[in-house]
This record gives sequence, structure tokens and C-alpha cells, in this order.
Amino acid sequence: MGSISLKGKGRRWLLGGHPWIYADDIAAGTGEPGELIPVFDPNENPMGWGLFSTHSKISIRMVTRSAKQPAREFWMQRVERALSSRRRRGELDPAGACRLIHGDAEGLPGLVVDRYADVLVLQSGCQGSDRMRDFLLELILEALEIPVRAVLDRSDSSVRRLEALEPRTEWLRGEPQQEVIVREAGLEYVVSPEQGHKTGHYLDQRINRQRAADWVRGVKGARVLDAFAYDGLFGIRAALAGAEHVLCIEKSATACERIARNAERNGVSDKVEVVRADAMTELRRRSKAEERFHQVIVDPPAFARNRREVDGAARGYCELNLRAMHLLEPGGQLVSASCSYNIRTERFREFLSQAAFDSGRDVYLEDMAGAALDHPVLLTLPESGYLKCAFLRVE
Ligand SMILES: C[S@@+](CC[C@H](N)C(=O)[O-])C[C@H]1O[C@@H](n2cnc3c(N)ncnc32)[C@H](O)[C@@H]1O
Repeated sequence: MGSISLKGKGRRWLLGGHPWIYADDIAAGTGEPGELIPVFDPNENPMGWGLFSTHSKISIRMVTRSAKQPAREFWMQRVERALSSRRRRGELDPAGACRLIHGDAEGLPGLVVDRYADVLVLQSGCQGSDRMRDFLLELILEALEIPVRAVLDRSDSSVRRLEALEPRTEWLRGEPQQEVIVREAGLEYVVSPEQGHKTGHYLDQRINRQRAADWVRGVKGARVLDAFAYDGLFGIRAALAGAEHVLCIEKSATACERIARNAERNGVSDKVEVVRADAMTELRRRSKAEERFHQVIVDPPAFARNRREVDGAARGYCELNLRAMHLLEPGGQLVSASCSYNIRTERFREFLSQAAFDSGRDVYLEDMAGAALDHPVLLTLPESGYLKCAFLRVE
């Protein structure tokens, strides 16, 4: 079995609470790809156990600070802990969807498991989760009390390159399912586990969509613009809440088809217009044409995928939000999201303030939400809190 000992800097970093150890902080030792190994301080005192990576800059992802080697019971407790928080919040409704396991934040490094009705889609993002995949899946299936028809391993994210891992998509249980129907809080939608983004869907925005729709409920004749719409669920929820007209803008052709199908499935096709276009251009064009909306949602892909991209992203977020603000009726609501984890909440707020100033309007931050609670944020791992979703009133 491998093991590593830390430099003094690594020891101090670990005592600060963060569960990742960087290659530069290792004094000596090694392990096999993804191996669970003990970690020692510079004086060979035990500091816990973690999953080793031979390639990533993150060499160890700690799983415990205890000197005792984690065994089956330890991992089962981790799985149970994750499932019981979902159970307590009523997220295990068999027809619905939720994230069951949120990776490093839940002490199960690199592993994400999303549930779409009775289909599980997992993603493994590091050598440790690859090595433990089959073992952890057995534990999850044992602990989950709802039926599972099929399990897909959709490990095709680009982060795997940092770990020298190949992308892979393979069905591990049951028959391949090209589409799954999810029913959740008065809404029905189609998920394509193999073809859709991420594990097939953006589960993190579930609660924010409901919240945005609640605002529309109180507005007579509401016109809503859902930009970067993906499968259109912000907009379709708004239509179900009584919006008169919803415009969904999305550049992916398959996503546009899915918006149309979801609108039909929910009986709101007559209210939902789908435009396949670049959202930035379309927002500018409609603003010049003096179109106005009561609610505008902007939920773009991550503009900053790493630290080097933050400055460029700053310009992108300011410009996008400025255009969105121009399109709002006085008293309208802007729902503005950022999923770049390199941009912290305070920084995002600065972009919104800049856009507000440039727009010449009075803009009130009514709330800054995050992802749904099944994407928990571990306080000692700030990287786990990537999603910001601002609810703004634009006068
Ligand atoms: C974060 S997702 C949106 C998620 C969606 N709001 C939801 O609630 O599920 C971003 C979406 O923006 C789309 N997109 C990316 N660049 C775009 C662009 N320039 N114009 C329009 N859509 C774009 C992507 O295809 C993707 O569907």
C-alpha cells in the first residue's frame, strides 16, 4: 500500500480544513492510481486517509481525518448520510429527480450520482472514484429504497483529462434508456441521459425555477424571456404559472427540440416560443427593437472555466446583465445565474452592480440563491458552491 507525508505547508493547509492536498505540498511517498492511502505530517504523525491521484495537481482528496483505515462500514455511512438528507427533504419521490451524491462535498470524492425517476446516471471525475465506482454503486443500490431500472456511467466530462482518464459512457445495469420522463412538482420533462448536457439535465436549478415561476404568478399578462434556456424549464414553469408569453432562446438545436416537446407535454405550446439563436446577439437586437418583458432569466454556461478566464468573464457577465436589464419593464424581475466556480458570490455581485450602474436603473438585489439543497456546499470546500442565482428587481 502507498502512503505520503506532507511538507509543513501541506500540514498547515490540511489543518485549515480544506480536503484537497496539492502535489507541491507532498514531501515524500506515492500510491497507485486512485488508491486509498494514509497521509502523515512531516513528523510521521497520522493525518488521515485520502484517495491518491498519480496525475492531477490535486494529489490527494481526503476522506477522513481519522488514523483508522476506512472500510465498508465507513463508506456505507457516507452513502447513508447522503441519502438520508434527500429522504428528509422528500426528494426521493420515485417519479421525480434529484442529485443523490454530490461528490467531494459529501466525502465521496469525484463521484456524482443523479437520479431521473428510476434511472441513475453517475459521473466519475477522478482516479479514486474510478477505482471505487463498482463498490460504491453496490452500496448505493443497497441503501436506496426506490426501484432502479437502469444505471448509466456517463463519465465524459473534460475534468477527467486532468486525471489522465479516458472519457466513457456505458450502461452498467438494465437496458439502455434513450429518454426518461420526470414528473416533479406539477411539471413533466424529458431527460436524455446519454445525449443531454452533464448527466442529462441541470438539476441544480430546480428550486430557482420554481421560485422564479412564483414571482410570475402575481403578474397579469406577464411576458417572460428565458435566455440560455436548455430544455426550457424556467420558461415552461413560468407558462404553467400563468405567463401570457414565454420566449426561450437557446443555441443548441437538440435542446430547442426538447423545449418544444416539453412545452407540448405540459400543455403550454401556445404560450412558449422557441428561438434558436445566440442569446447575446438576440438580447441586443430585441433591446434595440424596444421589446420589453416582465421577467428575464439569464443562465449562461460558465464564462470562466479557470482562473485565467475570469477577466474575460467579467466583461461577459457585465454585458449580458446590462442587456437583460434594458429589456425589463420597470419593476420587472431579472433572474441572473453564474455557474463559474472561479467566480465567487462577491465578485458576481460586483458584476451585477456594474451592469446596474451602466443601465442607469435602480436595481435591488432581492436574494442571492445557490443550487438546490441536493447539491450541498461543504464550507471547508468552497469549490462545492459554484452556482449563484441572483433575483433582482429592476426599477
Ligand atoms: C447553464 S445551461 C442553462 C440551463 C437552463 N437554464 C436550465 O434551467 O436547465 C446553459 C445553456 O446555454 C446554451 N448556450 C450556450 N451558449 C449559448 C449562446 N451563445 N446563446 C444561446 N444559448 C447558449 C447551452 O446550450 C445550454 O443549454
